Amino acid sequence: MPKLNLETPIINACGIGSYLDVFQRLEQMGAKFGAWLPKSIGPFSNNPELREKYGWEKEKLGNPNPVIVHTGSVLLNSMALPTHPVESWIEEFEKTPLEKPIIGSVYGFKADDYALLVDMVDQYVNAWELNVSCPNKEKGEQSLMETMTGKIESIVKLLRCVTDKPIIVKLSPNEDYAALTELVKDHVDYIGCGNTVGPGLVIDIYSKRPVLAGVYGGMSGPSIKPKNMKMVNDVYEIVKDSDTEIIAYGGIETWEDIIEYAIAGASIFGLGTCLLESLHDGRVVGKSSEDIVEFTNQLWNDVQKHLKKRKTTLDKLVGNLIK
Ligand SMILES: Cc1cc2nc3c(=O)[nH]c(=O)nc-3n(C[C@H](O)[C@H](O)[C@H](O)COP(=O)(O)O)c2cc1C
Repeated sequence: MPKLNLETPIINACGIGSYLDVFQRLEQMGAKFGAWLPKSIGPFSNNPELREKYGWEKEKLGNPNPVIVHTGSVLLNSMALPTHPVESWIEEFEKTPLEKPIIGSVYGFKADDYALLVDMVDQYVNAWELNVSCPNKEKGEQSLMETMTGKIESIVKLLRCVTDKPIIVKLSPNEDYAALTELVKDHVDYIGCGNTVGPGLVIDIYSKRPVLAGVYGGMSGPSIKPKNMKMVNDVYEIVKDSDTEIIAYGGIETWEDIIEYAIAGASIFGLGTCLLESLHDGRVVGKSSEDIVEFTNQLWNDVQKHLKKRKTTLDKLVGNLIK
């Protein structure tokens, strides 16, 4: 089975950082990520023939603002996968000087969308993460979590014929991830555990309206960590005798979180919400590149310091939970 070869087992979670020029700045400044994971690419095209043939649109705007809010205890986003045409992604990939591996995230509305997009972009990436688990949607749409769960097995089997790059399937903590893992574990290289929790609802008590224009939003940050930790450990129990490894997402922000996820069964660790900054009024902004560089270097140093002190390695810790 193909595997990712990472300098450090820390990556960004999809949807945070998102664009290649941001990653380029972070790479040049020495951020301690082992790979870059751009925003999910969807079935959208500038090419009228492709649109006609496959029923694709030109681009997806996602929900109107506000799409993100922090309640003080949890972050909610209702972005609903805004995506520009695949040709713009290819243009960016063609000229990027990024040296670290790139993990492409892909989503679609039918199994063929995944296969077509992976085929078009495969030469520019080192691995694929299948987003089949986003709980957010625009009004009148169904979410990927609602539409793709039943198609996951056919998607991964189809993709094995299109790419020989490592395949990560990113599941949701909200669905029957154990049953889905059983279905796909022999066809994928990694299980991503997991996407945002929920969705949830935040109400402005004065206007009596939802705070998010998209009404509901997937929840992320430290408060979802125990939920996704259990997901990692449940999935580990299913894949532990195979080559399939686990990528942990959900509330990672300290070296202890990384060690804890390793003990639960993960071998790669995705940073999402911790790369954002919450303001007092609930608004959320991205951290500066300087802060991200300092933060990731400190995080990785602290992990290594702990491992040295305990005379162990991350590999040795994976799945060491004593229940
Ligand atoms: C603003 C925002 C946008 C996101 N966009 C995507 C996306 O496009 N594709 C995807 O698979 N996950 C997306 N996610 C989910 C994250 O990749 C991650 O799985 C989740 O936030 C849990 O990790 P965290 O608690 O460290 O943020 C997004 C999350 C946030 C907060």
